[in-house]
Amino acid sequence: MIIPKLTDFSEASLDQYFGALHEEARQSIEDQGFDKESFRLDWLGRKQGKLKQISDALLKSAPPEAKRLIGQRFNALKEQIEIWLAVEHLLDGDSAKHLDVTLPGAGRRVGAEHPLVKTMAEIVGVFQRMGYSVGLGPEVETDFYNFEALNFPPNHPARDTQDTLVVAGQEGRPLRERLLMRTHTSPVQIRSMLEQAPPLRLVIPGKVHRNDAADATHSPVFHQVEGLCVDTNITFSDLKGTLDHAMKAFFGSAVKTRFFPSFFPFTEPSADVQISCIFCGGKGCRKCKQSGWIELLGCGMVDPAVFEAVNQRRLEMGREPVYDTRRISGFAFGMGVDRIAMMKYGISDIGLLYSGDMRFLEQFA
Ligand code: DAH
Repeated sequence: MIIPKLTDFSEASLDQYFGALHEEARQSIEDQGFDKESFRLDWLGRKQGKLKQISDALLKSAPPEAKRLIGQRFNALKEQIEIWLAVEHLLDGDSAKHLDVTLPGAGRRVGAEHPLVKTMAEIVGVFQRMGYSVGLGPEVETDFYNFEALNFPPNHPARDTQDTLVVAGQEGRPLRERLLMRTHTSPVQIRSMLEQAPPLRLVIPGKVHRNDAADATHSPVFHQVEGLCVDTNITFSDLKGTLDHAMKAFFGSAVKTRFFPSFFPFTEPSADVQISCIFCGGKGCRKCKQSGWIELLGCGMVDPAVFEAVNQRRLEMGREPVYDTRRISGFAFGMGVDRIAMMKYGISDIGLLYSGDMRFLEQFA
């Protein structure tokens, strides 16, 4: 290689000089017989490489004040050559010549909210607009939070391993400390009351687990939204008014509610809530089995035994037992999100919600 002699070391002259070298390197990449390794040797070779020769020749003859200007341009050229070599796939074979930047790019598919997440967020939203805040709790629970503090007697059938998925190897621990998959979101009522003093208005969305065989209406994993309201002077009328408003806000103002006596260990009295059938408006159809009503959730007034359990545990934790049953009362409710989502979107098989099948999920985008 013959290095042209430079006599003019002005910036313009240096730009022209390095511009030509840059062009020369680019040209050789586009040459028919381009070979990456000989290109690398030709330009970057330690002894005979062009960059080595250029720096030797230029820096020797240049006046001291031009050295910085030469160094900058030299480094930029070297960097560019290294980049070309690093972008291997552009240099291998013919691909550099055939890179077609006008081809459509690889598109990224936009995701959509899962129907369960969407339904859960809508339910939570209804209560947030009434001043409720949102609470969360763990899916792996202890027997204490899932059962004991919620006033389930020791041999209550809901504790039975038939329904509860228990964590293996817990036999050595006291019963209340044994780990299990929570069977409902109600344990978060206890966790919340241990952390906060009344007044309390909370909704708790979440995943729950039961040892149920999967069929069109059962899944071993499903979702609930729990509610808890504790304050002075909370009555059953507050419970009725709150849930009636929530159902109208969620399903439409034409919906009616009715309350039936029921039983839950942690509420007294307890009730099941039905709404007028959203499909037939209450006239009677196949969906409501001709009754005109659909059962939707469980609720009740917080049992004083629950407040007592909370107070006792608070004392053990060194906290004040502030849930004074003579002064405060509360209501609670819990609903299954999956069934509500299935009703709302006309989904006949709960398994579809957990299948991850894109053909199903895309319909909610
Ligand atoms: N935890 C109950 C269940 O899973 C649902 C429930 C009923 C929650 C009544 C409540 C309640 O908070 O008051 O079946």
